[in-house]
Amino acid sequence: ETSKPWTGRFTAPTDAFVEAFTASIDFDKRLYAQDIRGSMAHARMLGQVGVLSPQEAEQITVGLAQVQAEIEAGQMRFQMSLEDIHMHVETRLTELIGDVGKKLHTGRSRNDQVATDVRLYTRESIDAILAGIVRLEQALLGLAEREADTILPGFTHLQVAQPVTFGHHLLAYFEMLHRDAQRLVDTRRRVNVLPLGAAALAGTTFPIDREFVARELGFEAVAENSLDAVSDRDFAIETVFALSLLMVHLSRFAEELILWSSPQFGFIELSDSFCTGSSIMPQKKNPDVPELVRGKSARVIGALQTLLVLMKGQPLAYNKDNQEDKEPLFDALDTARGSLKVFAEMLPEMTVRRENMRAAALKGFATATDLADYLVRKGLPFRAAHEVVGKAVRHAIEAGCNLEDLPLETLRGFSPLIEADVQDVLTLEGSVNARNHIGGTAPAQVRAAIDRARQRLAGL
Ligand code: ARG
Repeated sequence: ETSKPWTGRFTAPTDAFVEAFTASIDFDKRLYAQDIRGSMAHARMLGQVGVLSPQEAEQITVGLAQVQAEIEAGQMRFQMSLEDIHMHVETRLTELIGDVGKKLHTGRSRNDQVATDVRLYTRESIDAILAGIVRLEQALLGLAEREADTILPGFTHLQVAQPVTFGHHLLAYFEMLHRDAQRLVDTRRRVNVLPLGAAALAGTTFPIDREFVARELGFEAVAENSLDAVSDRDFAIETVFALSLLMVHLSRFAEELILWSSPQFGFIELSDSFCTGSSIMPQKKNPDVPELVRGKSARVIGALQTLLVLMKGQPLAYNKDNQEDKEPLFDALDTARGSLKVFAEMLPEMTVRRENMRAAALKGFATATDLADYLVRKGLPFRAAHEVVGKAVRHAIEAGCNLEDLPLETLRGFSPLIEADVQDVLTLEGSVNARNHIGGTAPAQVRAAIDRARQRLAGL
């Protein structure tokens, strides 16, 4: 076995199972473009500083472009014996351009190479995920605008609490998603630091120009410490943490969509194209897509645990353990991307059953707090008002009606402060319109919040 780049000090070939056990090519081949881009920048830099001749650097970059074209044409023969994507690219390069290909790895190690590749890949994925968040945020704003006046019950403890506008409810998810986006923007700055130049762990004896490589690859900074650069994966952990939180937010939203589409709520209907039927029960239309998003949040949270535990026992600097960072990281990135896409497409397609939302808000004494506030405005201390309204609610429960159905005389029996104008505060519209301040549920505030949200999106 002479195709391996490290056979010099070995006398016996690698055990066949060990070869498969240690290989990462099955999952790191997706780094091919980042690997080649990093190698091109490295080769150009070696040419600039005179470690390679200009012709050698040129031969290498042309050869690397050909390797990339072959991979993209599906012509690369991936094999376990070549372990990972780095050795595949380099081996093929040398086959194509001969011995000069063997100079590419000067002043470099797979340790700083893989850290660079994964950072480039993570950076690009973060950008795609940010675009996905923005798309979902825009879908939310569109829906919130359409439903700014729609009233549904707001819940605490999943018990009817106070009426809210559906637009306001949707904007709550906008806020969560926006913080997720900000977290990713912030994380991206720490992802975007160049490890290359750290070599195996201590740096290199060649007169490298790391700033040049950083500029070529769009890194904002050069890693300050070579041991840290090759060994820590906190940038991946941070990214997957941000994705975990994003998935938790999507999971909560999914849970609401599932509840709301049950006939017991009947608040929304998801479009057929985002649901499936049952193989046995002919009447079923199941909200599979939100259920799967809720379920997939578990994968991402699991990936975060994997990465944290992977890191915690590792002495400096690089250890092969780090090869295990890729599957959880890639899976988390893929899952978040897919979940955002399916959500953004599903939302505008759903039907909102406004009359059912309204009917639900009319049940459960959602405006009881409004009546208490009304009494406070008429001079009663809040605790006393709370007591008065509590008694009126108990009476209405026994009478089997809503507060606004009680005759004025009956209401006045609980407090003489109650007058004819009470009907304004007992209506759903009266209740939501009265909460007219920044962050409140009034339709006018929802519209103003949407305008501000659009500006915030533009400034992300
Ligand atoms: N496949 C390896 C990884 O993913 C590349 C680095 C290997 N370095 C080494 N010294 N064996 O981490």
